[in-house]
Amino acid sequence: MTNSAIHSINSEIDVLFNNITELGKINDELFLRTGVKNFFNSFEQIENFKKFFYEFNKYGQKSKEFGDFQTPISLTNNICSLVKESGFEPEIIIEPTCGMGNFVISALKTFNNIKYIYAVEIQPEYEWIFKLNILNFSFQKNISAEIEFHSDNIFTHRMSKKLESFIQDGKRNILIIGNPPWITNSALSMLNSANLPTKFNLKKHRGIDAITGKGNFDIAESIIFDMMKKFSHPNAKIAMLCKTSVIRNIVKSMKFLALEISDIRAYTIDSKKEFNICASAAVLVANFWGTGNLSCDIYSLYNKKRDKTFGWFNGNFVSNIEEYEKNKYIDGNSPFIWRSGVKHDSSKVMELRVFGENSFRNGLGEVVTLKNKELIYPFLKGSQLRKPVISETNKRIIITQSYPAENTEHIRFDYPEVWNYLSKHSDLLSKRKSSIYKGKSKFSIFGIGEYSFKPYKIAISALYEKPRFSLVLPFINKPVMLDDTCYFISFDNLDIAVYTWILLHSDDVYNLLSSIVFTDSKRPYTKEILMRIDLNKLVKEVSFDNLCDIYMTRLREFFSYDLNEIEYKNFIKTIKRKEKRENNLYNSPNFAEKLLV
Ligand SMILES: C[S@@+](CC[C@H](N)C(=O)[O-])C[C@H]1O[C@@H](n2cnc3c(N)ncnc32)[C@H](O)[C@@H]1O
Repeated sequence: MTNSAIHSINSEIDVLFNNITELGKINDELFLRTGVKNFFNSFEQIENFKKFFYEFNKYGQKSKEFGDFQTPISLTNNICSLVKESGFEPEIIIEPTCGMGNFVISALKTFNNIKYIYAVEIQPEYEWIFKLNILNFSFQKNISAEIEFHSDNIFTHRMSKKLESFIQDGKRNILIIGNPPWITNSALSMLNSANLPTKFNLKKHRGIDAITGKGNFDIAESIIFDMMKKFSHPNAKIAMLCKTSVIRNIVKSMKFLALEISDIRAYTIDSKKEFNICASAAVLVANFWGTGNLSCDIYSLYNKKRDKTFGWFNGNFVSNIEEYEKNKYIDGNSPFIWRSGVKHDSSKVMELRVFGENSFRNGLGEVVTLKNKELIYPFLKGSQLRKPVISETNKRIIITQSYPAENTEHIRFDYPEVWNYLSKHSDLLSKRKSSIYKGKSKFSIFGIGEYSFKPYKIAISALYEKPRFSLVLPFINKPVMLDDTCYFISFDNLDIAVYTWILLHSDDVYNLLSSIVFTDSKRPYTKEILMRIDLNKLVKEVSFDNLCDIYMTRLREFFSYDLNEIEYKNFIKTIKRKEKRENNLYNSPNFAEKLLV
């Protein structure tokens, strides 16, 4: 609400307060005007309200802990119109995290049949802004709906008897609308905030995390799941603004939850324009009745044009179902195991830059002299994987172990310079936050194994939008190590590496990846995604001539190599054998453990 709007209702409010001196009468008058029950609970609240009212300008601050981005009224109007255009006329509105109440105002403007509005908000200051907003609106339009506002935490809130009875009778159309907080549980734990789902919910959502494969979830996700569970009702619809990653997790989880839901849509918004933030966001719209495909159609909120459909298709979760249908012929199991790069969580100490023949500079700006370079390896970060072939780097990394859990004590005697250097920084290394380092050898690293030391690698950054596969060649007679923002496969044999690298540059692979990868996620390329590229299926589509074509047009300028049909046939035989071996591995009982290595 603007300051001028505040001033224009100023005098009306003064009249109201000055002429009526009984609390009950003020509340009755306000109920008649606004539909808000028990506008004030005490005279003290009236005084607070007046004080707040005159200091309104102060309340511009956003609260991080509460994921607070109040939705502009133009956008809430737009979202309500979207619901109206779908032919749905709600009688009950539920806004679980209502803030200043812009969704409630837009709903009152847009829908003609609203009888009852139920709004909850945790931040106490918003109670007054909400009520003021409603009061202001009552001067523009008569409000016939009853409004129940609860200053409460939606995670622990108990529905009022009245709302419960509406849900139980199941006759009225219900719209659950809003914009739940934009913050993740891990961001909240950094802020030491208690604004988290209750233990019961957390447990439940841990189950969902296990399904979606992530322990870090947006609290909007748990609020939406709770709404779906509580208000699963034959006449209910949801329209909630949230990050597209939240919508994706909800659609992904639907397969495992016995909830009725149909016609799931996502209407994308321009968050820069609406909120001045960079985030991929959309309005999730769905019906809580019927069952349909567990997929979601994406449209633009502004021109209502359909972009694509993502979701479950034949047991696979994909980002573009139509494209996936065309490219699924190579979706299967990779004959090679994709691995994540080295994890050490101490780039300032473990990562070095070449400074002289025996000297390096670390991330703390110190010059470090290490004459024995046995434990020092050439190193690449994901951000360096920009070219199809990488054959040099000036970065180095200290590799303290050759397999997980290897005892590092021997470094003290075998490589004293390295030991002294690491010991000098042991305070930084022992402060590493991740629990994976607890109880492990000094200076431990992760993501290391026999595969790390193979000379030839094909690597991809997990974080790029477009897939780029780089052939990484040994440098200074050593295998190049990669950081944990990369995935790679490694080879003893250059021929096999080169044929694989060429195949990974085929349109077939690119198209498959574009149809299964969600480019707006933080880590679009995961081990799970890469393990789906089935080279054995692909070689059936790529003749030797096709292979030469891909090489000549896309890769030859970066790496000169004589392709040979017999070698290609041998390559095909090799990956066939690998497929059998990996299949056995996949089916072995301790495969999950091996994957973690
Ligand atoms: C993204 S803002 C949106 C506010 C409002 N729905 C709108 O669209 O303008 C999220 C709101 O959720 C509120 N909120 C955060 N955690 C909450 C909780 N646990 N219970 C109720 N409200 C909460 C915040 O205070 C904030 O007002």
